[in-house]
Amino acid sequence: MSDPSRPVTYDELGCVGLIRIDNPPVNALNHEVRIRLADAIMRATKNPQIKAVLIISGGNMFSAGADLKEFDAPLAEPSLQQLQNALETAPVPVVAALSGLALGGGLELALACHYRIAHKDAKVGLPEITLGIVPGAGGTQRMPRLIGSRAALEMILSGAPITAADAKAKGLVDEVVDGDLRDSAIEFCERLVHDGLGPRPTRNLTVSDNLDESTISEILRADARALKGRTTQKLAVDAIKAATLPFAEGIAIEAAIANKSLASRESLALRHVFFAERESGKVEAVPQPTKQPEMNRVAIVGAGTMGSGIAMAFADAGRSVALIDNDNAALTRSRDAVRSNYASGVKRGRLSQENADERMGRISYSTDLAAATEADIAIEAVFEDMDLKKKVLSRLDSILSADRLIATNTSTLSVTELGRATAHPNRVLGLHFFVPAQASKLLEIVRGKDTGFDTLAAALHVAKVLKKIPVVSGDAFGFIGNRMMLDGYFREAEQLLLEGASPQQVDTALEEFGFAMGPQRVSDLGGNDVGSKVRIQLHKRERRSDPYFVIADRLTELGRLGQKTGRGFYRYPEGGRDAFPDPDVDELIEGLAAERSIVRREISDEEIVERCVLALINVGAMVLDEGIAARASDVDVVWTSGYGFPRYLGGPMFYADTLSLEHVVKRIRHYHEKLGHYRRPASLIERLAAENSTFEQWDRRPRKGAVLTPAL
Ligand code: NAI
Repeated sequence: MSDPSRPVTYDELGCVGLIRIDNPPVNALNHEVRIRLADAIMRATKNPQIKAVLIISGGNMFSAGADLKEFDAPLAEPSLQQLQNALETAPVPVVAALSGLALGGGLELALACHYRIAHKDAKVGLPEITLGIVPGAGGTQRMPRLIGSRAALEMILSGAPITAADAKAKGLVDEVVDGDLRDSAIEFCERLVHDGLGPRPTRNLTVSDNLDESTISEILRADARALKGRTTQKLAVDAIKAATLPFAEGIAIEAAIANKSLASRESLALRHVFFAERESGKVEAVPQPTKQPEMNRVAIVGAGTMGSGIAMAFADAGRSVALIDNDNAALTRSRDAVRSNYASGVKRGRLSQENADERMGRISYSTDLAAATEADIAIEAVFEDMDLKKKVLSRLDSILSADRLIATNTSTLSVTELGRATAHPNRVLGLHFFVPAQASKLLEIVRGKDTGFDTLAAALHVAKVLKKIPVVSGDAFGFIGNRMMLDGYFREAEQLLLEGASPQQVDTALEEFGFAMGPQRVSDLGGNDVGSKVRIQLHKRERRSDPYFVIADRLTELGRLGQKTGRGFYRYPEGGRDAFPDPDVDELIEGLAAERSIVRREISDEEIVERCVLALINVGAMVLDEGIAARASDVDVVWTSGYGFPRYLGGPMFYADTLSLEHVVKRIRHYHEKLGHYRRPASLIERLAAENSTFEQWDRRPRKGAVLTPAL
């Protein structure tokens, strides 16, 4: 057992000084750990009896690196660099024994040791780039010395960890062992001593290859998709190039570059999203359950697109699934879809045939709702029809024992009303999955008026089981994501089309801004009919004034459903995905604009982006003010993990803060005064702007009753 008061221990085993880092859960190298490491290193290197030093983890992870919370201020001494200096210049060989993960600062610490031995299941990497940071504890200087500049650049740009075997092949570790790492590592140290092998400072090595411009562009191109719109990769290149200089010069350049990256807006945004994703699973007043609810058997009712995807998500997580549909043909289609999905995973090398068979074997198919009887959780994903869903939920309620969770995957209907069709509305909530349900990261958890805290806690556990990012939403029109999309972002994009922009111009401008895909291309991909159906249902909840998706709904009427019919906002060549402008659509839009006496004009890309993003922010603020979302950071999570908003801009609300709310209010007012349809600033933005405050500060204020469900 680790002792929290002793995150680092030092013992002497014969001639080996054994330094053990024991700071669960991830052995973060925080200030306390660094102080104690410095002390242990000093004790080991000052004792003439000690002929080799071994650094090892007390748990099953070497170290996930620095403590990110310390990044907002200058790092307190001793710094990681000071520890590395002490290790690298030690008079006796220093060995790092790597288990689990050695990431970021953890790996950098190991790189400053003279030798590295790894357990075969260990993985090592420098993931800093995912947070917009250039490794700043020697990673960009020592890694190229060990494995060459090219390999170092590839690893640092991808940020992905590599296996121990891969690390050995590259020259990053000296030995890979199976079995007990501690015993093997001690033996390794004794061998070094016996063979008279002394220190081997990484800093004394020279880099074997130079990075020329064509290699750099080739590597940057390979990562272009993941790194779109980002700037950190260029900084990383500069730092790695400095590894060919004398070590002291290179390390100074690295420090300057790393500090620059830390202060960049990109890094602040990425770190904001990182913390926001960890925060979103915590809900005020929801107790952390002492015992996790059983979640072994899952029943899913409705084996269509969503039901099949949700079934795969649970099967992937090792749960057994009863997939139920009253239509035999639907079950056959579902089985085929599941099979073909796993087959494509095998073909792409994502999983083995054995894994795929195992996962498929976890799903059983039935036409009888009674197959749900033993389930720990039942999720309905039948057609979007209030009466039908009420019937299904009430049947589930009658066959499942009262402590089991019942969820609906509705995207539009009132979860509260659905819950009240059962005898136990407290155990009913919404689990709003996104397409494809087996892969999408986001899970909106919709809290009905009667949903109990236990139910909510169990749903948060479901998200954990599925490795999805949960965000709790109140039960209102469109929940968080669709409300902002429909009332804010996409609505404004359609308005711009009516005023004179082309689908292509709108899409390209927003893709340039950083969205993964422009709104019209998204509609064509998902199917314009899907959006139209959603709106028909939502309009039963609340009405919206014209024009509201008049173009998309007309396209649906015309059977121009998007990629699946070869025509939508764009034209698609037979079976293709490349979108081509279609003059028929231009004509249709002009007609719809003329019916509304909208005078068409040239619109700049800047105006497109500004209006769409401000509309998104504005509705986001309304969602917050109405208590539909608990935190601005939750809204950011929804948009970065579910709707393609660029992570490196931090999500719409963080982005608003970076623009300053005073500026946001001014620009929304400007459009409100200039354009008839543009909404006035949300009262929350006006209030915060008047106080010179931010959404981030608002999140830190105590509030009661976060995540409300408006009265029915
Ligand atoms: P779908 O039409 O593909 O599948 C619905 C399935 O339910 C069909 O196979 C049907 O045979 C079955 N079904 C109907 N009545 C039944 C009954 N009484 N008992 C058992 N099975 C029954 O629909 P899809 O797209 O999978 O949507 C399902 C639900 O998920 C809907 O509530 C929808 O609003 C929601 N949703 C859909 C999303 C999407 O993009 N397709 C995204 C998020 C939620």
